[in-house]
Amino acid sequence: MDSNGQTPSITWKKFLAFIAFQLGFIAILFAYVQMSMKIDPGGYDSVTLADPVDKDNSFNFTLLLWTCPFGKFCRIENCSRLLGIHNCHITVERSWYSKADAILVHHREVHRNPKKLPKEPRPPSQRWIWANMESPTNSPNLDFMDNLFNFTMTYRRDSDIFTPYGWMEVLPQPQNFTIPPKSKLVAWVVSSWQSGSSRVKYYKELRKYIQVDVYGRHHSPLPWVEHLSTLSQYKFYLAFENSIHEDYITEKIWRNAFLTWTVPVVLGPPRKNYERYIPSDSFIHVDDFPSAQELAMFLHELDGDTLRYQSYFRWRSWLKPVRGMWWAMNFCKACQVLQKKPIQFQTIPELSKWFKGGGNVTG
Ligand SMILES: *[C@@H]1O[C@H](CO)[C@@H](O)[C@H](O)[C@H]1NC(C)=O
Ligand SMILES: *[C@@H]1O[C@H](CO)[C@@H](O)[C@H](O)[C@H]1NC(C)=O
Ligand SMILES: *[C@@H]1O[C@H](CO)[C@@H](O)[C@H](O)[C@H]1NC(C)=O
Ligand SMILES: *[C@@H]1O[C@H](CO)[C@@H](O)[C@H](O)[C@H]1NC(C)=O
Repeated sequence: MDSNGQTPSITWKKFLAFIAFQLGFIAILFAYVQMSMKIDPGGYDSVTLADPVDKDNSFNFTLLLWTCPFGKFCRIENCSRLLGIHNCHITVERSWYSKADAILVHHREVHRNPKKLPKEPRPPSQRWIWANMESPTNSPNLDFMDNLFNFTMTYRRDSDIFTPYGWMEVLPQPQNFTIPPKSKLVAWVVSSWQSGSSRVKYYKELRKYIQVDVYGRHHSPLPWVEHLSTLSQYKFYLAFENSIHEDYITEKIWRNAFLTWTVPVVLGPPRKNYERYIPSDSFIHVDDFPSAQELAMFLHELDGDTLRYQSYFRWRSWLKPVRGMWWAMNFCKACQVLQKKPIQFQTIPELSKWFKGGGNVTG
């Protein structure tokens, strides 16, 4: 009986220990899940919360980011330090909904389902901002956005909050510069390859007359860290936009070309539109030439004429290209614009028509 009496009691203890361990584990797991839900109301990762100032009354303007753009760009900066914009409280905590002065809604995360928009009644003085950096071609379901928003925030210069992909800063004094050594001719980085698109068609014509090195998905790989060092060896970069729309001048020129010190060959809105943002001698437009063959001939010509090639960098002595595609900064800008505007009734009944329309298609 001894063995019979002891064995079960040991097993019983073991069993209790096992249960206690399991309970402990579940408790920890539960606490962890709760914590992450609290941090991350939208179910997104890489959310960084603002400084823990939610209860601080010194902030008199609260901007609630309804979603994180693309599910990840929710970093929040101190706008005071970043741009000298004071009293701006930016948060991702949806519990702020009824108190928020403004709500920023990024198109991409809500466009499939209007039910993803706030459901609670909207406080009368609350302003809703529609944010989108994609072109109309890549912005589906725009019609859902009619009669909802009070402000727009896009790359279009007629937006209430204008957030271009980049701009030229004037240097306080002229500077000397050195063009990086060039050993290659034409580069293009492309991730979304659509054989029917005008840019792919143009490229296919162009490559008959000049060597073009293509990087990206389905082509030579180009790791992010080698981006700058690789592209800067080229004389020219094909800054071909994925779709052609007024003011849609993207990081293809600001990052891939200007940041790497290559001369951009652009395909996009008309030259006049580019010239609103960048000097006329800082780029080559495909429209400047009747055909891809003639563009290729011109590039060969520049390749053999160092002085003329260098003239495409002259603007660098007094201008500095700045990349603007930085969400944390755009949030601060939104705050700044709205803080300054008296709260008046303002609405955008036909947002889709406005955005698809493209305004006056001139420079
Ligand atoms: C933001 O920056 C300003 C200026 O540097 C500082 O005075 C302020 O305390 C900062 N706010 C927070 C919430 O950290
Ligand atoms: C630029 O170069 C010129 C000639 O070498 C020199 O005289 C001038 O001081 C330089 N300027 C700056 C800002 O470095
Ligand atoms: C916020 O408060 C400051 C002073 O504390 C004031 O100057 C500013 O006008 C207020 N802004 C808003 C939007 O109420
Ligand atoms: C914002 O626009 C919505 C939708 O048209 C409207 O109902 C609301 O009253 C507007 N709010 C303000 C403050 O203009």
